[in-house]
This record gives sequence, structure tokens and C-alpha cells, in this order.
Amino acid sequence: MAPHFPATRLRRMRRTPQLRALMRETQLTPSDLIWPLFVREGKAEREPVASMPGVERLSIDLIVAAAKEAASLGIPAICLFPYTDPALKTERCEEAWNPDNLSNRATRAIKDAVPDIAVMTDVALDPYNANGHDGIVRNGEIVNDESVEALVKMALAQAAAGADILGPSDMMDGRIGAMRAALEGDGFTNTTIMSYAAKYASGFYGPFRDAVGASGALKGDKKTYQMDPANSDEALRLVARDLGEGADMVMVKPGMPYLDICRRVKDTFAVPTYAYQVSGEYAMLSAAFQNGWLAREAVMMESLLAFKRAGCDGILTYFAPEAARILNE
Ligand code: PBG
Repeated sequence: MAPHFPATRLRRMRRTPQLRALMRETQLTPSDLIWPLFVREGKAEREPVASMPGVERLSIDLIVAAAKEAASLGIPAICLFPYTDPALKTERCEEAWNPDNLSNRATRAIKDAVPDIAVMTDVALDPYNANGHDGIVRNGEIVNDESVEALVKMALAQAAAGADILGPSDMMDGRIGAMRAALEGDGFTNTTIMSYAAKYASGFYGPFRDAVGASGALKGDKKTYQMDPANSDEALRLVARDLGEGADMVMVKPGMPYLDICRRVKDTFAVPTYAYQVSGEYAMLSAAFQNGWLAREAVMMESLLAFKRAGCDGILTYFAPEAARILNE
């Protein structure tokens, strides 16, 4: 009688780097990355974001240089977030659709100087809102349809500035359909929309609100429009709705605590799916790296690969240039 042996020896295929490479199921490449950048006024100005070590607000000339760097690293897209002068913030958020606002000027400068990178812009009113909310506030309520009208004007101004990808992150109902109709109506048939479809009311956005200068202005929380972290089926309804209204791509946000949502979205819809590894995730990892509690390169790359394994086609991450450099080595 044969001695007892394990029927399946899975360790056999893990024995050497070659065998491990043969059975590796997912890969991370620079073309999976979208790099979010914070824009500020001025020239040759860089200003660190305290809660995001290594991240800076950059003036437009330096944003153009960053876009060039991203293109040379094989990163297909950057995403712009403006740090707006508090004096320009109003209740009606008019600066949001000013054709010459900071974000639109930056988009034009990048499209002129770096033709081979896609520019994504954020469609939400928070950088321009005296209340810090993503929608217009009336008697303490974030009013949906009036906000959508403002967001549509904002989206058209961004498309006119040359944005390749519009990223509505506002979570108002009906905004994707309204934007798509307006884009078609104005001849912007090639402008793509990456809907922040499953965006949760998360504590992980804290450092971002510092970076864009919105934390001071924000009154209350965003729970009447962003999703309850307890929900998962609702994410599928939102994705279905936004695809039906004309979104080309969908996003799940935040990232790492919501990988189950990424997997459900990908399995259910089989559409281009992205996750945003948000500011709080970046801050958390960076703090551990700085303290020597986690190994920087290994953990950063593991955190990004996990999104691919969960079904994502790409990741918005502040680690984008560093990760791309490592992948290109
Ligand atoms: C605003 C917006 C937020 C983020 C992207 N767009 C913040 C929020 O909803 O309060 C967060 C990104 C990050 O935390 O890195 N509409």
C-alpha cells in the first residue's frame, strides 16, 4: 500500500520564479494607472499637502511637466483637481463653469503641450461651493435637479477645454444622462464619461478635502448623496443606471475597503471598471512606510495588484508615477 501523500501538491507550482510566472493570473502595468494631480495658481509653485506625504499642489507649468513625466512612464491618463481660491467660492458655484477657471486652463495647457496623455477632470461643485458640498445647497438641502443643471454647464466647459474623460463624482441622480445629452447636443461626441457610480460616504476622503481646500468649507456630511458603506446591491443599481444613461466607464470609490464591490461590478456588467485608491488610503500606507512599519515598495505594489485581481481595469492612485517607475525597471 502506498504511503499517505497529499493528492494535490500546490506548492509544486510555487517552487521557482519561472513556475510562479507561468501561473500568475493577473498583472499590473503602467497602462493600468491614472494619476490624480492637484492644481494651484501661480508659476513654478509647489506646495506640499501635509496629510499626503510626497503629494504637492502644483502650478499649471509644473502640472504640464508632470503630465510629460506621466506620458514618458506609460501612464495613459492624469486626473485634475483644482485648489480654488476661497474668494471664488459662492453658493451658486459659478466658477465651476467658467471656461477660464484653473482646471480648464490646466486642461488646455496640457492638451497643447502633451498630446499623448488623456486628461480626466472632476465634475462636482465642491471646489467652488461656499458650502463645500458637491451640489447646490438650498435651505440646508442639497438640491438634485438644480445641481444637475450646474454640473452639465461644468461638464460642457471641461469638454470645450479638451478634457478626454469627464469624471462626475457628485452622486446626483440623473447627471450622467443629462451630461451625455448635452455633450451630444453640442457636438462633443468623443468625450468619454467615467462615472463615479459607486461612491461611498467615506471617511477616507479627509486628506483630499485638505488638498483641494474644501474641508474648511464643508458643512455637515455627504450622506444624503454618497452611498452608505453598508450597501452592496445598491452599487449594482447605480452602475446599471449610469451605464444606461451613457457612461463609458464606471468607478468604485474608495478602493481597498471596497474590493468586494469591484468584483461584483465586474462580474455583473463586464464593462471598463476602475477603482480609486483614495487620499486616506494613500495617507495610511504612507504613514506606515514613513515609520518603517510596512515595506514601501512591496506593499504599494501589492495594494495596486489587488485591484487587478478584484476585476478592475485600472486604478486611480497617487502612487502612479512611483509604481510606473518600478514596473518599467
Ligand atoms: C469630490 C471628490 C472627492 C474625491 C474625489 N472627488 C471628495 C469627496 O467626495 O468629498 C476624493 C478623492 C480622494 O480622497 O483621494 N467630489
